[in-house]
Amino acid sequence: MSHEDTELPDDIYSEALPPGSKLLSGQYEILQYLSSGGFGITYLARDSLNRTVVIKECFPEAFCSRVNKTVRARTRNYSDDFKSIVALFIREAHALSRLDHSSVVGVHQVFEDNETAYMALDLVDGRDLLDLIENDTVSFSPGEVYRMALALLDAIGHVHAQDLLHRDISPDNILVDKSGRPVLIDFGAAREEASRKSRVLSQVLVVKDGYSPQEFYVAGSQQSPSSDLYALAATLSHLISGQAPPNSQARLAALAGNQPDLYEPLRGRFPDYEDAFLAAIDKAMNIVPAARIQSAEEWTLMIDHSKRAERARARAMDDKTIDLTVMNLVKSVNRDLQETATGVADAAPATAQPRDSTPTRDKPAPKAVVEDLTWSADEYDGFADDEPAPRETPYARIVAATQRMRQEPKRRKLPFRISMRRMTTVPVIFFAYFFYGQTALKYEQVQAATVDPIVRLGEEFRTWNEPDKANVEISRGIGG
Ligand SMILES: Nc1ncnc2c1ncn2[C@@H]1O[C@H](COP(=O)(O)OP(=O)(O)OP(=O)(O)O)[C@@H](O)[C@H]1O
Ligand SMILES: [Mg+2]
Repeated sequence: MSHEDTELPDDIYSEALPPGSKLLSGQYEILQYLSSGGFGITYLARDSLNRTVVIKECFPEAFCSRVNKTVRARTRNYSDDFKSIVALFIREAHALSRLDHSSVVGVHQVFEDNETAYMALDLVDGRDLLDLIENDTVSFSPGEVYRMALALLDAIGHVHAQDLLHRDISPDNILVDKSGRPVLIDFGAAREEASRKSRVLSQVLVVKDGYSPQEFYVAGSQQSPSSDLYALAATLSHLISGQAPPNSQARLAALAGNQPDLYEPLRGRFPDYEDAFLAAIDKAMNIVPAARIQSAEEWTLMIDHSKRAERARARAMDDKTIDLTVMNLVKSVNRDLQETATGVADAAPATAQPRDSTPTRDKPAPKAVVEDLTWSADEYDGFADDEPAPRETPYARIVAATQRMRQEPKRRKLPFRISMRRMTTVPVIFFAYFFYGQTALKYEQVQAATVDPIVRLGEEFRTWNEPDKANVEISRGIGG
């Protein structure tokens, strides 16, 4: 509501604070009364930084009255009720102050004064939706209604994510600013809780015919996010059809009496709107809570194509993660196998090859043997540069090492032990095969990560269990 545009309300509520009243030691000054709804009085005010804000005063008129500026329980009997309502108001204001969404009114401050409680809110420069609907000169295009619905769904999703319900969504509690952005005001959850404690409040404060779902009429009934979504659907239905929907209690009574539903579905009646958009409103308006849309997100996905595409992309990203996991598995298995081959070669002369020869069987050049072929510093020390080394030739050393290996059967077991350790990965590999086989991964990738390592492991075994064959190849390599 813009400060300049605001007309003075026709009926100045006699219990309202007069303009010029100061609150919180002069930090706020009341500029004008805006409205009263039975539970609170709303004012336009100026804060200490000279900004115009909206102040809501906790004033449940059934229980209290004003004496000078101070708010007191009407009678001693109401004293406890009044105190607990003020406490609920403060608790609710604190919960609201944690909400941070462009389509939820911002709470600046919560404070106590005049023996009641107040909240200072951001001023929304605009008009409420009820006012706009009833004003013949304003009409919303289907595109505007659609954008408004998405913004409100996002805001309601945000509220629900904090474990809060709005509980009083209706056209008069949605302000539309000059850019067309809808803003939710006037949360009713504190009133609902207060009404459960007081029969007087329960009669007047908690339901709004046409917008409240049937469960709001039954004290202590189960309320859920779908209750708020019903009220949003009723609001959108009013915006589209120009008529407030029928009272949900009357709908329930008609259905219970085997009469047709008093709510006429929007789908098929407004060709300017997408069918899916109208169908979603009709579903959210179902009289049975379990048959409604259950979350703001579910509703958004039903009507927003780009959100659906975004969701599909996010799923694809997840698949990429799986992809990456498999690729890493492939890499690590390959690395392990390579290490095994190197470790085996360290211990077995069968793979020995001269430094310059190409390794046979595509295995990496065995490290230990390569080192063997090099004169070590120790061996070289003590000899003159021109003096030939008095040791065996590299070839002779390889032959000696091979003979040593033959005489030491224990060392032949080393490759087998290493391979056994690798074998423990087989169940993991099988599990991966079946797990990844369920995904959308390409068959080759699954194969590369699972079956291939097993096959290579088998080949490795065969090689190491045939040392003589390996020897033949190696000696051929040396000779050639
Ligand atoms: N943040 C705001 N910015 C601009 N105008 C506001 C704001 N909050 C409330 N108003 C104006 O004050 C009116 C009443 O506010 P609100 O809906 O919060 O209280 P209510 O319905 O009168 O009282 P109750 O809380 O008892 O239901 C709104 O319809 C709107 O015109
Ligand atoms: Mg209101």
